[in-house]
Amino acid sequence: MEKGNPQNHLERLLGGCLLQTVEIFIRQIGYAIVPMIARGVMLGPDQPVILHLLDIEPAAEALNGVKMELIDAAFPLLKGVIATTDPIEACMGVNIAVMVGGFPRKEGMERKDVMSKNVSIYKAQASALEKHAAEDCKVLVIANPANTNALILKEFAPSIPEKNITCLTRLDHNRALGQISESLDVQVSDVKNVIIWGNHSSTQYPDVNHATVQTSSGEKPVRELVSDDKWLNAEFITTVQQRGAAIIKARKLSSALSAASAACDHIRDWVLGTPEGTWVSMGVYSDGSYGIQPGLVYSFPVTCKKGKWSIVQGLKIDEFSRAKMDATAKELVEEKSLAYSCLN
Ligand code: LMR
Repeated sequence: MEKGNPQNHLERLLGGCLLQTVEIFIRQIGYAIVPMIARGVMLGPDQPVILHLLDIEPAAEALNGVKMELIDAAFPLLKGVIATTDPIEACMGVNIAVMVGGFPRKEGMERKDVMSKNVSIYKAQASALEKHAAEDCKVLVIANPANTNALILKEFAPSIPEKNITCLTRLDHNRALGQISESLDVQVSDVKNVIIWGNHSSTQYPDVNHATVQTSSGEKPVRELVSDDKWLNAEFITTVQQRGAAIIKARKLSSALSAASAACDHIRDWVLGTPEGTWVSMGVYSDGSYGIQPGLVYSFPVTCKKGKWSIVQGLKIDEFSRAKMDATAKELVEEKSLAYSCLN
């Protein structure tokens, strides 16, 4: 099987506007994210897009309903919609793959409970993407266990560059910004440089040691302004760690609009770059930075430029942070071996 036709991609580029082709599974998050993409929230207001929507056979009619709605919304940037249950058709030539599909976690379930179902899905998706997506395809995995699904996808799609496969921890990053902004009663857009380390799970470590707030007298450290280390080192961390479960409890459904919005933030910053002086959190393949063993998809602080991410280096890590970063790495090592045992 051949990869997506690069000539086709080039012609589109030469046509004056790069038509980005985005593949998504169309469930809860999918339904929330498609209008955002079609309105330019993900790739900017001048970027036309073609959406490839994939779902399973029993959802084919509902998927077609979403396609009808997208047509009815008459989005000026939307240059085509392919709604399909065929992974090959869905993956054909896509530049960006947003993987929201997976067996959903229900109230009371841990991520591990959905592991065996989801790693099999991601193994199959890996091969469809590897064979049919555009050569430069950027992949964002959202479905849980997101880090480990991304790792399985990476390992079963060896020809996709490892730097092109990421998972979503921007949702946790945004949650941390939200908690700080609520606690200080400041605009969320004035808070920056929190970090989510590790797994998108309840072991993640939301770290504010380098975070700042823009005030009328310049940038101030979050720790100085909050002035409550007890809250920052305990309740703040657990609130962010447990926010997904709290939303499931309240909605009886997983987060959808905030996840969709965070996915747009993730791809937008990856493709268009992070603002000067700002980093974001992304789950990426570890290169050993900060003593995190290679072979894990781990969330780090990153900056992005010209479509590439780099891990922010040289941040001071205290003993408290070290222990939390190692604990979430340990969980990822265990998840990895559980995932492999499910695939055997
Ligand atoms: C979230 O963080 O909102 C979700 O990942 C929760 C979940 O497990 O579905």
